[in-house]
This record gives sequence, structure tokens and C-alpha cells, in this order.
Amino acid sequence: MTSTPWQHVQLTAFGGPDKLQLVSEPTLPEPDPGQVRVKVLTAGTGFTDTIIRQGQYPGVKQKPPFTPGYDWFGVVDAIGSGVDTLQVGDCVADMPVIGGYSQYLLADAARVIPCPVGLDPAQAVCMILSYTTAFQMLTRECTLKPGDSVLVHAAGGAVGTALLELARELGLTAYGTASPGKHELVRSFGATPIDYRSTDFVEEISQLTGGRGVQAVFDTIGGHNWSRSYRCVAKGGKLVGFGALQVSTGEESIPGLLWGFAKLLGLWRCLPDGRHTGFYNIQSRREKLPDEFREDVMTLMQWLKDGRLHPAVAELRPLADAAEVHRLIDAGAVAGKIVLDCQA
Ligand SMILES: NC(=O)c1ccc[n+]([C@@H]2O[C@H](COP(=O)([O-])OP(=O)(O)OC[C@H]3O[C@@H](n4cnc5c(N)ncnc54)[C@H](OP(=O)(O)O)[C@@H]3O)[C@@H](O)[C@H]2O)c1
Repeated sequence: MTSTPWQHVQLTAFGGPDKLQLVSEPTLPEPDPGQVRVKVLTAGTGFTDTIIRQGQYPGVKQKPPFTPGYDWFGVVDAIGSGVDTLQVGDCVADMPVIGGYSQYLLADAARVIPCPVGLDPAQAVCMILSYTTAFQMLTRECTLKPGDSVLVHAAGGAVGTALLELARELGLTAYGTASPGKHELVRSFGATPIDYRSTDFVEEISQLTGGRGVQAVFDTIGGHNWSRSYRCVAKGGKLVGFGALQVSTGEESIPGLLWGFAKLLGLWRCLPDGRHTGFYNIQSRREKLPDEFREDVMTLMQWLKDGRLHPAVAELRPLADAAEVHRLIDAGAVAGKIVLDCQA
């Protein structure tokens, strides 16, 4: 035991942001064989953390108390016996789904992903959940070529801005739905914003593409929205559902979502209209294809190092602000992504 006091955020019960509390520990945990102890520099925050906080995320079976935090970036601080692939001081990252809102944590050495030195920790953590989701949907779920066009929903958010930047990097034309306050951010990634509140995005896409539609739509809004997004897909293109945020906000019912899934994964696939549909989930894809996940995160970390990527870090906040950050995400008030500075 190392008697160094440290802190982490604990979710005391499923519920609102007030259930997130900063907890102090007197001694650092020691790594077991095959583990490393990581000094966490940054933890990502996003909509998914708020679903986990409310007990609505199917991928988390654990009951509170636990430390939330989908992804983190840090440096190896101590090494357990039998670990010969990492050294103290190495930069590493991982996506444990929970556990990231912490100053220190233990992780399996074989699971963490080595990263280049010299990365900005706030930008690096954006490469994990947000950018890897975007990258895999663009390059693994779809077959897109330069010049193709895509529609991104929730385009001013953490995953949305990642999709826009990677779309530009891949030579695609991007359209993005967002509230007007986020249009400047959408434009900053070379995309065309669509105000989904005051206009009908189906009509807008039809006009913008001369009635042809787009080659891919990335929709995390919900079952009803998937139906409208499907109408935006060009022949040969694909609708990728990857979430249903309107269920969490109470704007869509569970039966509505289930009907959406029945169409996305069943009915529409039977239609002979040349359009494709699918659902993406980063956690289940990683479980099936761990090497692919590792390769994709490492690619994005290298692109960041090379100066090709510029994630929209809205703010850097200390761990003590976790509850306030969740309030901002719940209110839809974050343009880009708020990152927690775990050592502040
Ligand atoms: N399946 C996966 O593997 C995976 C991975 C990562 C994230 N996700 C999901 O992706 C979603 C986005 O995550 P995030 O962290 O990027 O969230 P975020 O940064 O909090 O962005 C969400 C944004 O969605 C916008 N929005 C709300 N209703 C909308 C609507 N009807 N049309 C268009 N935009 C709307 C809001 O912005 P404005 O209304 O102000 O524009 C809100 O700020 C979440 O549902 C999350 O669970 C899924």
C-alpha cells in the first residue's frame, strides 16, 4: 500500500447529477499480477455517461456505488508482476465503460492501449469513445468514398463533431442537424448545419442533394427519427442507428423505440429499394473485435499526433465538477465535449 491520498467520483445511486460525489481514499491501490496502476490525466464525459448515471445503459450491469467514466487517458504509474509490455511513464488509454472519473485506477496491462508521447491529454481522451465511434461508423459500418455525402444528427455534440471532422478528413461532404447555437461549430468543421427544430431535415436534405439523398446517415436520436432519416438515404446508401437519446429525454417511449428497431433491423432490410440499415455499438463491437478496436484507437491517436485532428474540447473541468458537467449535458448545453482534468 502506498499512503498517497487520492480522489475519485462515485455514483451513490442511479438518478440525477446530485448522485455524483467526490470521494477521497487514503492509500493508492497496488496492481495485481498482469495489471498496471494508471495515473489518470483526463476522463471523457458525454451523453452515454448520463444514461449510465440513470441506470438506463444496457451495457452496465453493475449497481451503485461505482465510479463512472466511459474512457480515460493517462500514464502508467506502477506495474504488477509479469507485465513486460509497458513501463512506468508510458502514455496509455482505455475505454472501461465505467471507472474513468478517477485520479488513479488499476487496469489489465493487456487491455490498455499504448499512445504516442506528447499528446494533449484533453484532446487525446476525445479519440477514444467519441472519435472511435465516429471512425468505425464511417469506415467499418459503411463503404464511403471521397465526394460522398453524409448526414450527421446531434452534429454539435461530442460524437457529432467527431463525425464531422473525420468526414472532412475522408473527403466527404457533411450535413449536420443541430440547434442554432451550435451552427458555427458545425461550420467550423466544413459541414452545412441544419436547424432541425425550425425546418424539416428530410426536405432540407432533399433540396441540398438535388433529391438524391446522402450515402450515409448517422442517427442517435431515436426510432421515430430513424424513419425520417431512412428517407434521406440514397440508393446504395446506409442508415446507421447508434443510440436513442430521445428515450432518455422522455421524448420517445420504449414501444416507439422497439418499433424503430423492428424497422431498422428487419422490415427495411426486406424492402427492395437498395438502401441498407444497421445499428452500431462500440462496446459490443470491441468485445467481438478487440484487435480492430485497438488498431482504430491507435490510428486516431497517431492522426492527432500528426496534427490532422482538432477535437472540440468545450471545457476542461476538475473531477469535483462532475455533477455540474452532467447537468450541462442533461440540458443539451454542451457544444463539443467537456473533459475532466483528473489531476486538477
Ligand atoms: N452506439 C454507440 O456505440 C455510441 C457511442 C457513443 C455515443 N453514443 C450515443 O450517441 C449520442 C450522442 O452522444 P454524445 O456524447 O455525442 O452526446 P452530446 O455531446 O451530449 O450531444 C447530444 C446533442 O444532441 C442534440 N440533440 C438533441 N435532440 C436532437 C434532435 N432531435 N436532433 C438533432 N440533435 C439533437 C443536442 O444538441 P442541440 O439540440 O443543441 O443541437 C445535444 O446536445 C448519445 O445518445 C450516446 O449515447 C452511442
